[in-house]
Parts: sequence; C-alpha cells; structure tokens
Amino acid sequence: MTRDPNGIIEAYRRAGQGQVFAFVDRLSPGSRARLLDEAAEVDLAEVERLSRTLVTGGAARALDLAGLAPAPYERMPARGGDPTAWSAARAAGEEALRAGRVAAFTVAGGQGTRLGYDAPKGTFPVTPVRGRSLFEVFAGKILAAGRRHGRPIHWFVMTSHQNHAATEAFFGENRHFGLDPSRVHFLRQGRMPAVDFSGKILLESEGSLALSPDGHGGSLRALERSGALDLMASEGIDTLSYFQVDNPLVRCIDPAFIGWHLNRRSQMSSKAVLKAYPLEKLGHFCVLRGKLVVIEYSDLPEAYQKETDPSDGSLRYGAGSIAIHVIDREFIRDMARGSGSLPFHRADKKIATVDAEGRPVRPQKANGVKFELFVFDAIPSAGNPIVIETERSDDFSPVKNAEGVDSPRTCRADQLRQFARWFKAAGAEVPTDPSGLPEMALEVSPLFGYDERTFCESWSRLDPKPAVTDGLCL
Ligand code: UTP
Repeated sequence: MTRDPNGIIEAYRRAGQGQVFAFVDRLSPGSRARLLDEAAEVDLAEVERLSRTLVTGGAARALDLAGLAPAPYERMPARGGDPTAWSAARAAGEEALRAGRVAAFTVAGGQGTRLGYDAPKGTFPVTPVRGRSLFEVFAGKILAAGRRHGRPIHWFVMTSHQNHAATEAFFGENRHFGLDPSRVHFLRQGRMPAVDFSGKILLESEGSLALSPDGHGGSLRALERSGALDLMASEGIDTLSYFQVDNPLVRCIDPAFIGWHLNRRSQMSSKAVLKAYPLEKLGHFCVLRGKLVVIEYSDLPEAYQKETDPSDGSLRYGAGSIAIHVIDREFIRDMARGSGSLPFHRADKKIATVDAEGRPVRPQKANGVKFELFVFDAIPSAGNPIVIETERSDDFSPVKNAEGVDSPRTCRADQLRQFARWFKAAGAEVPTDPSGLPEMALEVSPLFGYDERTFCESWSRLDPKPAVTDGLCL
C-alpha cells in the first residue's frame, strides 16, 4: 500500500474501513505515524476476502467427509513396525545430522492466553526441581544433539511482535544457554487485524489496530520473508525439525524421525500418538480425496471419533497429531511463495477494543474474529507426506492450561515419569506409583541425557553412582 498518509486513509475509506481513522485528528504526531504504519501493513484486499468468506458470508459449510479414511502411519517396532526400517531411518537421520543438514525450528509466537502467563511462553519455568524454562530445555537438547553428531545445530525461533524483544532479551540474559549465539536465529511472524462480526477492522485503542499473530502456519511465510530459508541454504541445511514452544518432552532432534522423512523423500512428515480416549482434543490424521490431512477434533463428527475397528476394537481414527513435523526447506519456500498457500481459519475471540467515543471496551464474550493459519494445512500440498507413530511419554506433554489437563502440574508429572523410566532402564532403583510417578523429585539435564539411550550411556560412565534420593539433579 502507498506510504502517503492521505492515500492510506483514502484506501481505508474506499474499502469501507474508514472507522480505523475515526480518532486520527486527536492523535499526537507520533501516534498518528504509528497508526499509519500499522494500517499500511494490512492487506485490505485479503481482509475483505476473509471477511466475506469467513465472517459475513453465512454459516461455514461443514467439511465434506465423503470417502474419508484413516491415514496410514509407520508403527513403532513395539507395536508391529518393521525394526529394520526403523534402524535404517535412525542411521539416515544420524548421517544427515553429521552432515549439518538439519536445523531446529520452534514456533514461539503464541499468546499463551489459556496459561495466563504474560511473559513469552518459552520463558515459563517448567522442570520439576530446577525450574528450568522451556527455552532452556530445548536449548539443552539441541546442544547435546549437536555435540553427539559432531555438528552444532542451528536453531530458528519464531516470535511475535508482542514477545520478540522479551524473547531475545531472555536468551541474552541466559547467554543463550551455552549455544553459540551465531547459530540462534529469531524471526518475527506476521500479524493480522481482527474484525468485528460485520467485517470491520477493530481498533485496540484510538491509535492502534487490534493486530494479532497470524497463527503457527504463519511460520512458513515468516521463514521465507525473514531470509531464514536463504541462510539455511547457504549453511547447507535442507531439513527443519519443527516443534511447539509448549512441549518440554519433545525430542527436538529425533534421528529416526528425520531419517524416515529423508528415506521416504517426504516434503513434510508428522508424528502421531495414539489417542488416549475417543474424544481427546487432538487433530486426526486422515486421508480425504486422496490427500493426507489433519482434521481438527472440532471438524470431525463424534461418530467418526468414536468409531472402532471391528477386528481388534481399536479406534479407527486413532492417530492424533501432536504438532511435531520435519519439513523440507524448499517445500516451505514453495508454500510461502503461494503455490497452494494455506487457508485462513476463523477464531471468535474476546478482543479488547474501543467504543465510538474511543473509550476502552473489555468484552465479556466474543466480539470479533481473528484470522489464523495452521501449519498442518500444508501437509496435503507436500510430496509423499508421511506419519510416524511415537510414544506419548517420549514426545508429548504440553503446557496449555493453568489448571487441569495439559497444565504445569500434569507436565511436571510426565517429566518425572520420564526421568524415572530412564533411571530404571539404566538399572537404578526408583520407587514409583502404578502410573510410574516417582516418589521423589528428580531432574535430568538434557546435557546428561536427552533420551533413554543417551541417559543410560552417561549413567554407565558415572563412578560412583549417586544415591537416587529426593531432589537429585543430574
Ligand atoms: P496454541 O494453539 O497453543 O496457542 O499454540 P497459544 O497462543 O500458544 O496459546 P493460547 O491459545 O493463547 O492459550 C501452539 C503453538 O503454536 C505457536 C505457539 O507459540 C505454540 O508453540 N503459535 C501459535 C505461534 O507461534 N504463533 C501463533 O500465531 C499461534
């Protein structure tokens, strides 16, 4: 859009969005310039199209599920998968890591509203004894995996406008948790304006638009726009290990997963866990009209979610998405440049705004719509997309809510169970309850061990071995 102030204001008037400048005459020159900058960032034609199709265009049509089938996935050896193929995958992944072809990528631009934590979510103290932050946990795993494969790993972290400065400062204060700062890269995701239910862009205050991050799917275009893909290309990186900021259990760098992706020439691969119960709120891996897709639980009728396989009673749509992917660099570039670009989704939200007099309004119920992109919508556009199974206890325990399911409390318990399993696998005595929860608090730094194999190796080298007592940290 033109940078000429009158031109911007005129374009908004013509688009029926003149309310954005209702208070412009009262603003200081600085505030006025900021509002104009924000306004110039918005693609008015895109907002008009999204409002028409997602907001004012009547009820959304239900997804046509004709011919829907569960997606095939690679089972783990413990559940009937081919151990030779898994070993080959692991070897291929390790080779790619030794060759420096893999980078880690964390999407950390979310707002964390459900957790109710104001700072960037990655700064949330999550480990059971030391209270290490999510970022520190990932950094440790990335550092350790780099050391193990003899090639330091680049880490890309996507932030939002709101949390970018605070995220960078946190890394700086913590000296990048021992990582080489030149291999840690921050990129800011894009943002989208929120609209009211008649498609009018909302103001957050008299002098600013209600802008919010464009969803984790915005990561693909942010990687392209920021120059991160070019940097990867110049460093010889062609494969990205993608994970969310809220899940400390994730194997940030998983050689077997990377190797499956490479061996199958997949452009976007995903990990699945078996759903714990029929209506668990996970996306479902399905095949629809010949394409691998993730269908959100809210879009999949309950009858499908509960359907069982007559042969063994297992859930037919049992493979749940946990937002862990391996993605090919050039596929990201293609998606970002528009071939098969991602669709926006509508999310009705309570949006802080102002009334006709410019007074602040803090709504008690949803008063508008945010537009978001979802990364899994890229899967159907990928060549040879695959899904591999993983054990929940090895890869997934997110911190989403302040209380109840997927909360700091459940995540702490899952970390403790994981540590206890590793101690036991190494031959140490750890009293646990029937769910595997140890009676004492333990913590393992990723630098000591970041999975059962690396833990057991380090433990076997310890001489003498420490007593496993409350508060033990390795
Ligand atoms: P969530 O869907 O859990 O959203 O994000 P959230 O914003 O973190 O939390 P709520 O819904 O406000 O409580 C899943 C992952 O996607 C990232 C988050 O940081 C998290 O890692 N994300 C989400 C982004 O990076 N950008 C976004 O715009 C949205």
